[in-house]
Amino acid sequence: MTFSFSLRRIVPILLLLFTRYFCFFDGSDGRMLYGSKHHIFPLQTFRPYNIAHRGSNGEFPEETEGAYLRAIEEGADFIETDILSSKDGALICFHDVILDLVTDVADHKEFANYKRTYEVQGFTITGWFIVDFTLEELRTLRVKQRYLFREQQYNGIYPILTFEEFIEIALNAKRTVGIYPEIKNPVFINQQVKWEDGRKYEDVFIDTLLKYGYKGSYKSKSWLKMPIFIQSFAPISLIYASKLIDSPKVFLIDDIDMPTQDTNQTYWEITSDEYLKFIKAYVVGIGPWKDTINPVKDNYLCPPTDLVKRAHAHGLEVHPYTYRNENHFLHWNFSQDPYAEYSYWIEKIKVDGLFTDFTGSFHHYQEWTSGSHITK
Ligand SMILES: *[C@@H]1O[C@H](CO)[C@@H](O)[C@H](O)[C@H]1NC(C)=O
Ligand SMILES: *[C@@H]1O[C@H](CO)[C@@H](O)[C@H](O)[C@H]1NC(C)=O
Repeated sequence: MTFSFSLRRIVPILLLLFTRYFCFFDGSDGRMLYGSKHHIFPLQTFRPYNIAHRGSNGEFPEETEGAYLRAIEEGADFIETDILSSKDGALICFHDVILDLVTDVADHKEFANYKRTYEVQGFTITGWFIVDFTLEELRTLRVKQRYLFREQQYNGIYPILTFEEFIEIALNAKRTVGIYPEIKNPVFINQQVKWEDGRKYEDVFIDTLLKYGYKGSYKSKSWLKMPIFIQSFAPISLIYASKLIDSPKVFLIDDIDMPTQDTNQTYWEITSDEYLKFIKAYVVGIGPWKDTINPVKDNYLCPPTDLVKRAHAHGLEVHPYTYRNENHFLHWNFSQDPYAEYSYWIEKIKVDGLFTDFTGSFHHYQEWTSGSHITK
């Protein structure tokens, strides 16, 4: 009698505890303190990372809330963004130094006289530069799709995001979603924007990450809780950042005819064994333009270079960019099939992650080919 009595009383209590436990862990009670939030689904680390290039920008205007939420829904491991600064020093998510191509700035008569010409990394550019707008002014603009052959119905809806809003999108996701922010155009930004106390763009960038609790070396406990890769084409910025934060960094590598934007080094210098040996003290990987790893002629692949093998020999990961579904981005060897392209790069070239405009396609490819004990 005592046994059944206590069981009847204990079972509901256990059930209650059980449900509360899971309510807590799935975050359904709303926002919690960042860093104390535990996730049911950890970051997957057993297969190459799905890095959502500017969000799921194949479907939504790039670097907007819509693009990032869609990427998270579609299975992104990391959401990727480019950080630039407004005139008044606010860090925002935007790829180009000018607003012309992916916003409605041309329709805003009040900004007609903001058009300028600047020298940016050896190129003379004319347009509406982000560094001439305050954050408040930038907020009045709306983002649009870069390519006319992509979905246009979300044009004019989304404002430009701040760096902090971007971080909060990742931290509010129902599973662990990493961030992959770029220290973008640091030479130009530091020339044009000044912060108090002589702080540099890189200081403000890293302070933003520290404020949210990003820390820890690659695959450490704190990294797995809040995964991040800090990326840049500028080696001086990465080396500087390594003194401020121990989070993993990735050195981006441009096309073979583009010198580095701060040290003016050639592609050949920065992909030499000597340089990889030097830079691996500061970064965990490289992020090359994919056609430099595997050169292309007449839209056909040539034999691949040994860059991935050499980087791996130095213990560096390789995360190339950018993978896009559309026919005219696919080299003939792939028979107009984006899955064939993923298969080539994962199985044959053996990359450790890749930047894609179509998070969902890459996620499906991985679900079909790499087992089912997955996150989503
Ligand atoms: C960068 O290096 C090239 C030679 O490799 C040189 O012609 C050019 O003037 C240099 N640019 C700057 C800004 O130093
Ligand atoms: C791509 O296709 C061309 C033409 O058939 C062929 O010569 C080349 O070897 C292929 N490249 C790779 C990497 O398979």
